[in-house]
This record gives sequence, structure tokens and C-alpha cells, in this order.
Amino acid sequence: MRRTLLPALVGALLLGAVPQAALAREPAPVASHPLESSDRAVIAHRDGIVRALELRPGIAVADVGAGTGAFMEPIARAVGPTGRYLAVDVDPEMVAILAARARRLGLPQVRVVHSRRHDVRLAPASVDLVVVIDTYHHFDPVAPMNRSLFRALKPGGRLVVVDFDRRPDSPEWVKDHVRADRATFVREIEAAGFRHEADLKVPGLHGHFIARFLRP
Ligand SMILES: C[S@@+](CC[C@H](N)C(=O)[O-])C[C@H]1O[C@@H](n2cnc3c(N)ncnc32)[C@H](O)[C@@H]1O
Repeated sequence: MRRTLLPALVGALLLGAVPQAALAREPAPVASHPLESSDRAVIAHRDGIVRALELRPGIAVADVGAGTGAFMEPIARAVGPTGRYLAVDVDPEMVAILAARARRLGLPQVRVVHSRRHDVRLAPASVDLVVVIDTYHHFDPVAPMNRSLFRALKPGGRLVVVDFDRRPDSPEWVKDHVRADRATFVREIEAAGFRHEADLKVPGLHGHFIARFLRP
């Protein structure tokens, strides 16, 4: 990284929102990154998942645990230039990849946010929808993180969690990797004040659940 970029980048990481220009010379995300693989069910069914979100132009969406930004373009285009798409991640390497991707995409509605493990670092009551894709099972500590998602949502806003549906007959790697089942996750999220509204279905997407919650 060039020395001239360092102050801007350090400042950005402290504040959460990352100025895109500060990371302008970061390497491009690699298409062969494992998170981009169509072997992942959520990538193979990306269009169906985005449709299930019922996005509208003008709304503000936070993609928490955005990773390499696999959902950045479809969500950002669906909310349009009058909306906002906030790509949030806790990992500085992912934040750099997201910022580079956002810069290449060049859509004004896209912002990148460097969050913390217990705090999404979004303004209170600032977003209409939070989406958490293959990330909820990574939340640790989970309770403060869920409370911070609740605070970030406007009253009447929604949280949609897409995650592995851990069952007794799930593959061993799912049982090893995912700490609890859907019912446990739903209880944890409701404990933060959310109301479970619906379980959504995406044709052909098996082994995952999609749960939608209301922030009353
Ligand atoms: C398996 S990846 C999923 C990425 C993306 N949602 C997708 O489906 O392609 C999980 C991501 O969540 C991030 N993550 C884990 N815990 C987090 C937290 N508490 N807040 C924000 N991001 C988190 C990780 O850094 C990683 O980028």
C-alpha cells in the first residue's frame, strides 16, 4: 500500500465506513475465491435468494458478513441509485476486497462498513432490511450482535437470515461447522426483540433455511 493512502485507510477503519478512494489500489477480488464458487448453494441460487428478499428501489439494505461481495451487484441494482447497499464485514481482508469491488462497480448507492464482532456499526434506525447470508452461525458473541442488528433497523424493518439447516441427517461437515439448528437460531434472534414472520422458500435450495423477522 502506498504511504499516502495509509492515513485515510486507518481513519476509515476507525470510523467504520471505508472511503472507496483509500483502497483504490487494492488488488481485484479473485473470481476463483472459494466464496464465489457455484458449489456453494447460496451462489448457485443467488437469483432466487435475491428475489425472496422482495427488494424495492429506494430502500436501505445492510448485507452483514458480505464476504467478497457476491450479493453486492444484484442487491445494489435492485435498490437503485435512490437506495443504499451497505456491505458490512468484520474481517479487514474482506473489507479491502469489498471496497475494491465497490469501486469497480461504481454505483453511488454502495458503501462498505468495517464492523466489529459484537457491533454492526451502523447508525440507529438507519436501514430497512438486514440480510445475513451463510454468516449467522459465525456470530460470536451472538446476543450483542443481534441486539446491534435490531438497533440498526428502522421500526417495521426486516431481518432475513439465510443459513445452513442443521439437522440430525445433515452432512457431517455441516454438523461440525454450524453450532446449532434453525430453531435455536430463531430463539436467539427473537430474544433480541425480533418477531419471526415467515420461512421463505427458494426453489431448488436445499440444506438451507431462510427466516424472515420483523423489527417491531
Ligand atoms: C461464509 S462468509 C459469507 C459471505 C457472504 N455472505 C456470502 O454468502 O458470500 C461469512 C462472512 O461473515 C463475516 N463475519 C463473521 N462474523 C461477522 C460479524 N459478527 N459481523 C460481520 N461479519 C462477520 C466473515 O468475515 C465472512 O466474510
